[in-house]
Amino acid sequence: MHSDLSLIKNSALKGIFSLVGLAAVNFLLLPGICLLNLSDASNAEPSVPVSKDNNPKTLLLVWALKGREPPGCWEYFRISGCTITGDRRRYNEADGVLMRHWDVVHKFPQARFRVHFYNHLKEYIKIDIFGSAGTILPEGKGSVVKMIRRYRFYLAFENSQHTDYITEKLWNAVRGGAIPVVLGPSRKNYERFLPPEAFIHVDDFNTVQELAQYLLKVKDSPSLITMHLSWRKDYSLYFATWDEYYCTVCKVVRMRKGKIDVVKNLTAWFYS
Ligand SMILES: *[C@@H]1O[C@H](CO)[C@@H](O)[C@H](O)[C@H]1NC(C)=O
Repeated sequence: MHSDLSLIKNSALKGIFSLVGLAAVNFLLLPGICLLNLSDASNAEPSVPVSKDNNPKTLLLVWALKGREPPGCWEYFRISGCTITGDRRRYNEADGVLMRHWDVVHKFPQARFRVHFYNHLKEYIKIDIFGSAGTILPEGKGSVVKMIRRYRFYLAFENSQHTDYITEKLWNAVRGGAIPVVLGPSRKNYERFLPPEAFIHVDDFNTVQELAQYLLKVKDSPSLITMHLSWRKDYSLYFATWDEYYCTVCKVVRMRKGKIDVVKNLTAWFYS
């Protein structure tokens, strides 16, 4: 099971925040998931199996769930009125279809930018690479995070630079206690998910060399390290599973019922 994280501020507001805020935040966090509403869903009255929360009206088809048992949103997450299915034959009855980014977009032309940036950066600082292009990581869950713990910085470079396309790369860095150096959507976009000082954005610098100089400076400066890491005392990490995201998405579809956005040109929408 994939999982992802979000942050909860440890404060008196936490109760309210986790109820009201997190639903929206979790939804925005979906790594590379986009949500498509069906244009004719408003007049289709789906027939959904009755469940114990006796309010089962919204059906969400999760494209990636094919062949796997769908989660019970009420049983596990106390989200009522939602049924999740992976059965693609139910496409026409579904109120919404959830597709992952990679089910829709197969090519990342910007991936080259990431490689270019890396090639430039490694002229100035030593970078260790793991995975298929470098040292093979040990098998098993958590090995990425375990490896990151040995490092001060983690380059969380996304394949694609689009709004909210912030993936587990960032959260692995946070889990491993490294300072994430991010390349992806704008700084402002990242600041919706992390405090401003919690990450270093490549856009903060005019040149790759300036970024490298700053990283070298932080490496040897206890006060700068504290500045980038002390936020961790005030937050805790919240682990969510894909199943919880599916149910949260269904809840959003449910809240938006009757308000349907039709995207006629997916390419234009995606790049907008
Ligand atoms: C959809 O949008 C893309 C990007 O703006 C454009 O290149 C393409 O021609 C559009 N396709 C149609 C069918 O309008």
